[in-house]
Amino acid sequence: MNQYEKYYKNELVKIENKIQNLFNGKEPSSLYDPCSYIMKSGGKRLRPFLVIMGALAIGGKSKDVLNAAVSVEVLHNFTLVHDDIMDNADIRRGQKTLHIKYDVSTAILAGDNLIALAYLNLLKDCKGNCENVLNSFTQGIIEICEGQSYDKDFENRKSVSLDDYLLMIQKKTAALAEMCCSIGGQLAGGSKKEIKQLEAYGRNLGMAFQLQDDLLDITADQAEFGKIIGGDLVEGKKTYLFLKALEKSKGKIKKEFESVIKNKGCKKEDIPKFKKYYEELGVISDTSKEVINFTNKAIKAVNFIEDEKTRNLFIWLANALINRIK
Ligand code: IPE
Ligand code: IPE
Ligand code: MG
Ligand code: MG
Ligand code: MG
Repeated sequence: MNQYEKYYKNELVKIENKIQNLFNGKEPSSLYDPCSYIMKSGGKRLRPFLVIMGALAIGGKSKDVLNAAVSVEVLHNFTLVHDDIMDNADIRRGQKTLHIKYDVSTAILAGDNLIALAYLNLLKDCKGNCENVLNSFTQGIIEICEGQSYDKDFENRKSVSLDDYLLMIQKKTAALAEMCCSIGGQLAGGSKKEIKQLEAYGRNLGMAFQLQDDLLDITADQAEFGKIIGGDLVEGKKTYLFLKALEKSKGKIKKEFESVIKNKGCKKEDIPKFKKYYEELGVISDTSKEVINFTNKAIKAVNFIEDEKTRNLFIWLANALINRIK
């Protein structure tokens, strides 16, 4: 384990500690048990770490942004709970999704409560004028909703361009990563210029992250990934892989991809077949290349960080995510 990974693990312990105590003694249990169920189900805690990194880049301390860090993880978990309802997903982080474990109404309300809890925790770290921080945080949520709406719209649309797709993932995923870096930097007193660079890092990292998620949806090991493999194909999602395959395929195979659009998804049994097509068409490697492109853009954005160790932490994380398996 290198020093950067050690640092990440170390910070994770502090974040985890706070998360474990979020719901102590809270009633009613019909609300807080499900909230606790999702918050304690694991997860990489990547977004809170981005808040901490944002603060470090400006010379701030992690202890001053820990509540804000918890806040973005709570927000992220809200998006997962509602996303799993929207995507008909049964498994998340290797266990039943919240609406399967409980029911849809419980999952909707737990999600709503998590948004409010996210704000409460963010406010704990907002000293003095927090208008800009609250503005970025709220804008981030709005973008996620817009992105999720595009994602659902695209399921029913016959034609989606790669640019449409990139805008959709910028909103549904990259906007949150951008916001995390931004508020970490803002809370530590960064200048406008510094915040812009941190945001560019988060945004490009987020783009790479979602492309990698699309890739893992078909290539990962289910036990490691913690989600059902091929879920995007079954749900008829227009992922990067799917759109590229549609563009590159011909004849009978192209017809098969078109039938996934027509039928708004494929059968579970057909997942291995489409995976083989993806491999043969080279869209797996196309996607990997795109992941690397966005990762390099992210790394370029943090050139401004003078402290070498801190800059290397940003570079380490970006590269580590390329090799993630979950
Ligand atoms: C899942 O995010 C949602 C996406 C944006 C792909 P993560 O892969 O970070 O999920 P956890 O929090 O580690 O479970
Ligand atoms: C991730 O979208 C974006 C949000 C959860 C807001 P996905 O639907 O691809 O995420 P997973 O694959 O379910 O984690
Ligand atoms: Mg989704
Ligand atoms: Mg989903
Ligand atoms: Mg996914």
